[in-house]
Amino acid sequence: MIIRPQSKGFICLTAHPDGCAKNVESQIRAARTIPRGSGPKSALIIGASTGYGLASRVVAAFGYGASTVGVSFEKPADERRTATPGWYNTAAFERTAEGAGLKAWSLNGDAYSHAMKQDVIARLKSTGPVDLVVYSLASPRRIHPDTGEVFTSALKPILRPYSSKTVNFQTGAMSDVTLAPATAEEINHTVAVMGGEDWSLWIDALEKADLLVPGALTVAYSYAGPALTGPIYRGGTIGRAKDHLETTALRLNDRLARNGGRAVVSVNKALVTQASSAIPVMPLYISILYKTMKSKGFHEGCSEQAVRLFSEHLYAKTPPPTDDAKRIRIDDWEMRPEVQAEVAWAWDRVTGRNLDRYADLAGYREDFFKLFGFGWPGVDESADVDPQVPIPSLNLQTA
Ligand SMILES: NC(=O)c1ccc[n+]([C@@H]2O[C@H](COP(=O)([O-])OP(=O)(O)OC[C@H]3O[C@@H](n4cnc5c(N)ncnc54)[C@H](O)[C@@H]3O)[C@@H](O)[C@H]2O)c1
Repeated sequence: MIIRPQSKGFICLTAHPDGCAKNVESQIRAARTIPRGSGPKSALIIGASTGYGLASRVVAAFGYGASTVGVSFEKPADERRTATPGWYNTAAFERTAEGAGLKAWSLNGDAYSHAMKQDVIARLKSTGPVDLVVYSLASPRRIHPDTGEVFTSALKPILRPYSSKTVNFQTGAMSDVTLAPATAEEINHTVAVMGGEDWSLWIDALEKADLLVPGALTVAYSYAGPALTGPIYRGGTIGRAKDHLETTALRLNDRLARNGGRAVVSVNKALVTQASSAIPVMPLYISILYKTMKSKGFHEGCSEQAVRLFSEHLYAKTPPPTDDAKRIRIDDWEMRPEVQAEVAWAWDRVTGRNLDRYADLAGYREDFFKLFGFGWPGVDESADVDPQVPIPSLNLQTA
């Protein structure tokens, strides 16, 4: 099959296995720059196939030599369709991990379900308890494991409508959008999907099965952002979910601390991922942010963020203090006053006619397609490739 990018709105319907392998390879190179020190030995990553979760898995394994169990929800290829990029990433990760003598198992299915938690517990019972649990799910829906209720998250402002400029990152067309405020039900649904309840259920299940080593660490990812995106992000429905996640961290931390453990939230930088592309207005903010941070020489991607999180915070001998809400801040460079002042200045001036002057839309688009394995140097996209790529450990489980 000759695989070309086929995009629709903010998603790409195809993925290139060789390009996805290049993505994983480049993340592994970044992880290998970490000086060997004490770090995770055995990690469970929930949401391990793309974005921040994949970067965390790569750093745990290739930066510290940890064995990893990764959970994700991806689709294999069939006769008509390629697999999703997370499928190809996981396959590439496992192949390279095996070559490097690192143990890695992957489970594919709904992390919100009791069945997946039981499958992971069964796996860990044979491989051993974990000392790190990374919670990095981003999903538009969740089926509640007890009630079967289906929750659908909304990306909306709260109380008041929100009007903003926005860009279609595929075409570069700018327009104005007005988003109606969320209903109370939409807020509750978003909290149910992206809040901390499921993270807590994972920790409960692992503790109950005695699969957390004493002193285990768990980390989940949040976002804060500037006032500019406040109505749609931190002050909106997704922000309510992040408030819930952050409160959950404090509660879990009190519990784990009794056994020498820790639960913490890391507030990460805004980046191009499948999840962030779906949030209205964020692509324009991110492309202006990219232009600003690249011009100042401290732009980071998921892997640089994960390297910094693990080496300078989670496993540093003397990590910098957390913020007032006890959160790790690796969005610190994004939130520097001089960066935000420049972003706000550009935001006020950017129009469809001067987009390239103020925003790095080309960089945004490049990163977006790279997520799906397109545009990687060294990959011949006109060549015939087999879209059917096995994930070695999944085959073992079903054999
Ligand atoms: N992208 C950003 O700019 C940004 C910034 C700060 C924080 N974050 C946070 O980081 C976390 C991860 O986001 P991301 O941007 O890396 O997202 P992503 O879309 O790249 O990754 C989501 C992961 O979740 C998995 N997943 C989704 N639904 C699942 C399900 N039901 N069962 C099992 N796995 C499932 C996917 O397979 C994938 O591995 C989120 O909490 C997000 O809010 C993201």
